Amino acid sequence: MDNFEFYIPTRVYFGRGQIEQLKHELPAYGKRVLLVYGGGSIKRSGIYDTVGAIAKEAGVELFELSGVESNPTIKTVRRGVALCREHGVDAVLAIGGGSVIDCSKVVAAGNCYDGDPWDLVIHPERMEKALPILTVLTIAATGSEMDHIAVITNEETNDKLGTRNPVLRPKVSILDPTYTFTVNAFQTASGVADIMSHAMESYFAKSEAKLQDYFAESILRVCVEFGKKALDTPDDYEARANIMWASSWAINDTLKLGHMIQWSVHPIEHQLSAVYNMTHGVGLAILTPHWMEHVLSEETVDKFYELAVTIWKVPESEDKFAVAKEGIERLKKFYRTLGISEHLADFGIDETYFEAMAGKAAAQLATAYKPLTKEEVIEIYRESL
Ligand code: NZQ
Ligand code: ZN
Repeated sequence: MDNFEFYIPTRVYFGRGQIEQLKHELPAYGKRVLLVYGGGSIKRSGIYDTVGAIAKEAGVELFELSGVESNPTIKTVRRGVALCREHGVDAVLAIGGGSVIDCSKVVAAGNCYDGDPWDLVIHPERMEKALPILTVLTIAATGSEMDHIAVITNEETNDKLGTRNPVLRPKVSILDPTYTFTVNAFQTASGVADIMSHAMESYFAKSEAKLQDYFAESILRVCVEFGKKALDTPDDYEARANIMWASSWAINDTLKLGHMIQWSVHPIEHQLSAVYNMTHGVGLAILTPHWMEHVLSEETVDKFYELAVTIWKVPESEDKFAVAKEGIERLKKFYRTLGISEHLADFGIDETYFEAMAGKAAAQLATAYKPLTKEEVIEIYRESL
């Protein structure tokens, strides 16, 4: 196990009715707060009104950045920074999913930076501080509620990049599973696929870290056990609660402690989101089995075998490759049970930009589990069409 530092300072309030905690948490961070949200789901669900009433009672004035896109853009971040400065905001309250939270993080850091916030995406080390960030999670997927990462799109350059810095980690996150009852089947499935990908991206590492691997297997088991239930019965509290907590743990650093690794499939998917506005988790679900088939070799077979046996219950055998391949087939089948298509073409994607997208992805994969060339990434895109 490699050396590591472990410190996760996000205060999590988990469960029904925990929104009430904002009554004391909001004023603890300031009197003037920027409320950030997306396309309006928080108004339909009633969370918007609830938070408005809580803020009023707590004597906190709210200013609003609304309309944050799925796959949030730097343009919206800039709009948020301008609002913070105009109103002298003390803290940022994100209500939504990964897109809203990621946007809020870079707004919070951008407010404290004397330059364009895109600099902070390409040079994370330039972030020295950020306004305090509080979140109310409404969809289980990215884990942004408990991590120090934000992923932002620059539409002018077709870049979608992750930035990370400890100042981005939320101070407080409210995780009420009932808020995810209204998430539709497509987004629920996408979220489950994203959580599974986070677990697998850390699991497929060369260095040994058994405890972390067993944690990753637990997260995958939860997704397999409760993913379909959450789709079929959207108001199944236990299903939603388990998936929600799995989302936070899949990426809150725990799994990658002791075997820090550059993830593989995420950079390949982020190009699809950047160019085609692809839904992140769905892109991962389509690409992951093809990536696995592509990198299956003497070097990787042991990990793929372990996954096939522990998660997909493939009977053990001396033919490790056969077991690993059957595991990949069962992973594909699982994504089909979640209703996720297996073809990128179903999302209007063709070969037009593969060359450029693969170049950007491959540039990030030099230190991955299995480094890939641009040509290999193009093959994975083609196989996923
Ligand atoms: O915009 P609204 O109206 O809120 O609707 C959203 C959006 O359309 C809807 N939704 C959210 N909560 C809902 C709901 N609809 C009904 N009821 C609710 N309770 O769901 C749609 C998707 O929301 P979004 O925030 O885009 O989804 P997600 O949480 O999957 O976030 C995706 C973004 O996060 C990035 C992705 O690349 C993508 O940009 N990621 C962030 C990471 C991180 N910060 O660590 C890591 C991930 O790997 C990922 O890259
Ligand atoms: Zn992800």
